[in-house]
Amino acid sequence: MNEEEIDEFVKKLIPQLALKEKVYLMSGHQFYKTLLKDRKIGVRPYSAGGVKRFGIPPFMFTDGPRGVIIPGSTCFPVSMARAATWDIQLEEEVGEAIGKEARAHGANLYGGVCINLLRNPAWGRAQETYGEDPCLLGEMGAALVRGVQKHNVMATIKHFVANSIEFSRFKVNVLMDERTLREVYLPHFKRCIDEGCATVMSAYNKLRGEYCGHNAYLLRKILKNDWNFQGFVHSDWMHGVYNTVKGINGGLDVEMPRAKYYGRRLIKAIKNGLISSELIDDSVVRIIHTTLKFTTKQDSQMYHSDLIGCEQHIQLARKVAEKSMVLLKNENNILPFDINKIKKLAIIGKLADLKNTGDHGSSYVRQRNIVTPLQGIKNHIGDAFDTIYNDSSNRKNALKLAKDVDAAIIVVGYTYKDEGEYIKQYPRKVGDRLDINLKSKEIQLIKAISQVNPNFVVVLVGGSAILMKEWKDEVPAILMGWYSGMEGGNALADILFGKINPSGKLPFTVPKDASHLPYFNAHIDEIEYGYYHGYTKFEKENLEPDFSFGFGLSYTQYEYKNLHIETINEEIIANVEVTNKGKRAGEEIVQLYVGFENSHIDRPIKLLKGFKRVSLEPNETKKVQIELNKKDLAWYNPESKSWEIEKIKYSIYIGPSSKFEDLLKTEILIN
Ligand code: BGC
Repeated sequence: MNEEEIDEFVKKLIPQLALKEKVYLMSGHQFYKTLLKDRKIGVRPYSAGGVKRFGIPPFMFTDGPRGVIIPGSTCFPVSMARAATWDIQLEEEVGEAIGKEARAHGANLYGGVCINLLRNPAWGRAQETYGEDPCLLGEMGAALVRGVQKHNVMATIKHFVANSIEFSRFKVNVLMDERTLREVYLPHFKRCIDEGCATVMSAYNKLRGEYCGHNAYLLRKILKNDWNFQGFVHSDWMHGVYNTVKGINGGLDVEMPRAKYYGRRLIKAIKNGLISSELIDDSVVRIIHTTLKFTTKQDSQMYHSDLIGCEQHIQLARKVAEKSMVLLKNENNILPFDINKIKKLAIIGKLADLKNTGDHGSSYVRQRNIVTPLQGIKNHIGDAFDTIYNDSSNRKNALKLAKDVDAAIIVVGYTYKDEGEYIKQYPRKVGDRLDINLKSKEIQLIKAISQVNPNFVVVLVGGSAILMKEWKDEVPAILMGWYSGMEGGNALADILFGKINPSGKLPFTVPKDASHLPYFNAHIDEIEYGYYHGYTKFEKENLEPDFSFGFGLSYTQYEYKNLHIETINEEIIANVEVTNKGKRAGEEIVQLYVGFENSHIDRPIKLLKGFKRVSLEPNETKKVQIELNKKDLAWYNPESKSWEIEKIKYSIYIGPSSKFEDLLKTEILIN
């Protein structure tokens, strides 16, 4: 059916629906029954909605930012790693693969587009999102939505909004002023809504004193009114709604995963006149309309079970992992290691031999075939030379080994036991990080190895920034390897031995000291989120990070030249020439920032407003064009309650990272 046919159908249907049927549409079903049957979470999609009598299918929910969580699915690198690719097309491909696998599993609602802004790397679920910048978050989120929805799977963006502390997520009240909300925490959600995202998941936490699931300002005023969102809003899982009337008045259309405050209580509240029937009908129209839009559209292919974890998707997971790893340091070009010059290689650290794909909460993809770093390295070098593994539990032995080899690879960092979703049922320690440093044992190990062998690389595993100040100067090479999915070990080996030229760039700032970050407390009841965080905070306060937002090295070097700007009506087009000056082909991520130094109000020094990934052969030059719209220069004026464009001179910066020294600059006058 097309939109008009659906409209027509729904209009005729509403008067024929019994109250019970309407209310049935507005919640999840059989959650506990499914749980009991499987004795596990995430084994099959959870159903909600649907009206049997009129052939309205239920929506079948599945999770997971790094792939469909149902057993056997392809496990991709976590979203934070994918953000480091800055590759929108590739993210759309990931979305397509996820969409196909979701359909093959019988799901039609995918709750895996997490676009909460990374405010502090201690947040346990940082790995599920795309970093600290609204522009990057919005573009990557929109790409995932596009990909998934191509296969008639409704995408859900989550968690709306300001969900970025794990332990206190069920109770914390997040305060922020209107500019911070509109300019910092909402633009990426708006970007995905404009892309046509079908559904929104409300967050557990409160915003300005009201639970997000009850929050009429957020759900009714901003989302449904200001942004003209036509889809439906569903709650986050077990504690997303606390009151029937507040949920409905707040704009929450569907209670997931079961009817606790909706269902029978909702029928009673309607009968008692506590809720207007127009509001119920509005939700029902949204739910049926959205469901039919996706379930009646012609599929472009069949979705057989052999798509699940298929070879093509596994190869995609590998490609993404290759493009995501960020080379942070490479003194004297010790990387890539030359296979011909090594006779003996040490691989050190227990994480090298661990199937470690990240969080074990709602984003946990049940996939057994994980290539660990150790396995990937062995696959790569075959029996070209000796590789010796040491898990570093005995430091003396690890050191002895490091001393005795030509090169060493040390794999350190985190697992789901250090960071991830906080799940009450399990007595294990997950949730926000206790510390954003490496463990002191790992730091001591790195320092000790640096004394006995200068030819080594530290590979970091984790979902967001890890402090490096304490040991960074003592090591020649550092690679951010992330939770890199089922093919991560192979991708890592390809990079370390030079088959692949690293090209990832940081989607966040790495501070020298945790005190430079916005205040974070996992056990807090109330917190104020300020206007500045990440690179905007560092720049405003003149703080020097250890590694800047957007930074990442390559085995080749790029040169930027001839930046010039054209304006055509509302479009601003930045042109720059990028040349590969080295001897290897590579891919560069060209970044455009707008500077607000001349602003009459308090604004960030600069903001990312566009980016492009380009591939360049040695000596090749490409003209890169990045377009923006004058609207992208606007700020939100809380007094006029509107977006305004200042008539001033703006700086346009283009280059390989957010570091000022790296950027070419020009100016444009808007009048
Ligand atoms: C998480 C959501 C997830 C849901 C369903 C919740 O606890 O916060 O992100 O989609 O569970 O698994």
